[in-house]
Amino acid sequence: GKVRAPTHIVSTICDDRGEEPTYAGVAMSTIIEKDYCVGDVISLLWFRRSLPRYCTKFIEMCIMLCADHGPAVSGAHNTIVTARAGKDLVSSLVSGLLTIGPRFGGAIDDAARYFREAHDNGLSPYAFVESMKKKGIRVPGIGHRIKSRDNRDKRVELLQKYARTQFPNVKYMEYAVTVESYTLTKANNLVLNVDGCIGALFLDLLSSCAMFSKQEIDEIIQIGYLNGLFVLARSIGLIGHTFDQKRLKQPLYRHPWEDVLYTKYT
Ligand code: ACO
Ligand code: LMR
Repeated sequence: GKVRAPTHIVSTICDDRGEEPTYAGVAMSTIIEKDYCVGDVISLLWFRRSLPRYCTKFIEMCIMLCADHGPAVSGAHNTIVTARAGKDLVSSLVSGLLTIGPRFGGAIDDAARYFREAHDNGLSPYAFVESMKKKGIRVPGIGHRIKSRDNRDKRVELLQKYARTQFPNVKYMEYAVTVESYTLTKANNLVLNVDGCIGALFLDLLSSCAMFSKQEIDEIIQIGYLNGLFVLARSIGLIGHTFDQKRLKQPLYRHPWEDVLYTKYT
């Protein structure tokens, strides 16, 4: 019989060999003719299935709400400095993207991991937060540099409002809110941040839309798909900042001496 030569690559999300490319088996013409949106394309290429509209709309809300948060945040700052050093679009973009991590924008997967484990093990917010403190780990998804009890994050409010009316179940998000109620007794800025909100709500989406097995959810959380939402979203803003700096013909950036404390190491 035929002997199949072993391949060097295995790929399951996109096939470009036929008359037209397919995303997880869905032809490009279907995507256009049936008015698929960006959320549908993300569903096909990341989750390898079509998700219901309330899920794809949620994904698109995350993308739109996280697209930018001004020039002062870590990512935009790096991008602006890089663009002003005369670098090209891709260099300026990746310079900003490289700041995304456990403190900035990249806490979504860890927030989902810790909230899930704490919720499913029936830990009270007190027991959860205090156990994290004992381990010396800041609770991912909690805390913000400028947002606080009295200056709420509109993005979080909008996502919560949508999910409360559209999701079948928001148990993980409600758990995260009880964690926030506890952390707010410690300090005013220990709010549920946008990373934590997306992490908890994605757990709700995955566990309540009946399209994922428990094993698949474990895999999504373990691999860490969810920071991808912030990376994708913020790329939109970082590209915008690059164009903005170039359009404004901004010169090389040099940080002012007055804003540096020059001191001897003691
Ligand atoms: N869990 C527990 N305690 C915390 C947390 C947290 N998540 N965040 C701050 N604290 C407490 C700690 O006691 C901290 O003291 P320490 O430095 O000795 O650990 C104290 O508050 C100081 O806090 P701040 O000075 O307000 O912290 P800062 O403003 O530097 O941190 C940050 C803000 C980085 C977001 C922080 O809250 C944090 O690490 N959160 C977890 C990671 C996270 O969710 N990041 C995503 C933010 S949203 C976004 O980037 C889109
Ligand atoms: C962001 O979306 O960039 C932030 O929430 C971080 C910040 O400091 O505003």
